[in-house]
Amino acid sequence: MPELELPPNALRSFGRQVADFVTEYLTTLAEQPITDPETSPGHLRRLLDEPLPRTPQGVAATWDDFQRKIVTHAVRVGHPRFLAWMRTSPLGGAVFAEALAAALNQSVAVWQGAPSATETERLVLRWLLELTGYAADAEGILTSGGSMANFVGMLLARQAAFPEVRQQGMRAMPPAAVYLSPEAHYSLVKAVEMMGLGKDAVRCIPVDHARRMSPAALRRAIRSDRRRGIVPLAVGATIGTTATGACDPIAEIAAVCAEEGVWLHVDGAYGGLAASIPTAAPCARGLSQADSFSMDPHKTLFVPFEAGAVFTRHRGLMPATFGVRAAYLPNAEDEGLHFREYGPQLSRAFRALKIYFTLKIYGAEAILHTWERLHRLAARFAAMLDDAPDFQRLTPASLGIVTFRYLLPGRSPDELNAVNRALVPVLQRQGEAFLSLTHLGNTEALRACFISHRTTEDDLPRLLHAVRAAARSL
Ligand SMILES: Cc1ncc(COP(=O)(O)O)c(C=O)c1O
Repeated sequence: MPELELPPNALRSFGRQVADFVTEYLTTLAEQPITDPETSPGHLRRLLDEPLPRTPQGVAATWDDFQRKIVTHAVRVGHPRFLAWMRTSPLGGAVFAEALAAALNQSVAVWQGAPSATETERLVLRWLLELTGYAADAEGILTSGGSMANFVGMLLARQAAFPEVRQQGMRAMPPAAVYLSPEAHYSLVKAVEMMGLGKDAVRCIPVDHARRMSPAALRRAIRSDRRRGIVPLAVGATIGTTATGACDPIAEIAAVCAEEGVWLHVDGAYGGLAASIPTAAPCARGLSQADSFSMDPHKTLFVPFEAGAVFTRHRGLMPATFGVRAAYLPNAEDEGLHFREYGPQLSRAFRALKIYFTLKIYGAEAILHTWERLHRLAARFAAMLDDAPDFQRLTPASLGIVTFRYLLPGRSPDELNAVNRALVPVLQRQGEAFLSLTHLGNTEALRACFISHRTTEDDLPRLLHAVRAAARSL
């Protein structure tokens, strides 16, 4: 037996142990505390610290450490009352599909090295286009997530306007600007930086009362830049902003972009399925006119990290942006689709497989119905906040996100900010519910993002109760 192989029986029994663990873990999440109160950076560093294992410790000892040191201190993402950030509850079928993808270990880079995985990714991308309502014949690629997808979108914009940059670098580019609302995800700002334009190139376009980018202000900013000799390069609009779930008016923004000849990238990392959810569909109006579009299966399709996607309706632009000839790999003229030409990565995980399994096992309709239900739950939660004298709802439920704050009588705005800021870590440690904090102007807000398919009506009063308990213990 080669040194690096477990005997087949040992491997099989390890596999069964893993399958049992995954099943038990996912089906009992609701009964587990979301966090362990002992968890702290120092505690974990001490607990995990050990010298490089130079000799085998075996499956049993490693499993024991995994349980004691890692599982105990893992945040129960997927718990029905985990409503922080945008971490979804992965479906069991998708979790097991990850193991299958790892076993096949296809690097979805060149067709010859991963023929069926390449074609599966192509198929899954087509399904995603159908679900999102973006241009049906768009080309695209799966990415690590929304940040990378947004970066690719910005690079596509640059390539479309200044193809000579690939040869000559940034000296081939005149001063240029990118237009974002203050509600845009920071990854778009980072993308502008990483593409070499610098943060000064970002124009912050004002939003209306519902935190949507103002198309009129956008047009003014574009024209003002052009008068000053600055090239308006791209607009980044969002369906489902991170903080409040707001939707920029895509159709109106697309009209401005078309009129002014500016690239439109739509960030649908969170709200990308809106077109297929009847109550959210107005958010996606005009999406097919976007030049590029990103969405995140790891936020919207209940698959585990990592899975994002980016598309452009300008066929041929992705290979023009990322294609590089290599003597040691198949190139454009060689048979098949080579995803290495569609994005920054060469070695690429078989991300499509977990999406393939998820859509086939559960069906797209069940996923879309779940989102409708989660949006309704968020609206119900917003109504409960409106009825509670000790809470103030701050923004309407939008695509399943509600912001609010805890109120204490007679406190100044600064004091209320301090209370709400302080209660979040307490709440997170208590393990009954897990929310995140955001800022709405000068107001510190609690943010509930209904993104776990396990959340039900019963969780709503428990959520409020947990926030009250955290506030009282301050
Ligand atoms: C609107 C939006 N865009 C982009 C991102 C970044 O996505 P990722 O975390 O997958 O990189 C997020 C993350 O929450 C987001 O909310």
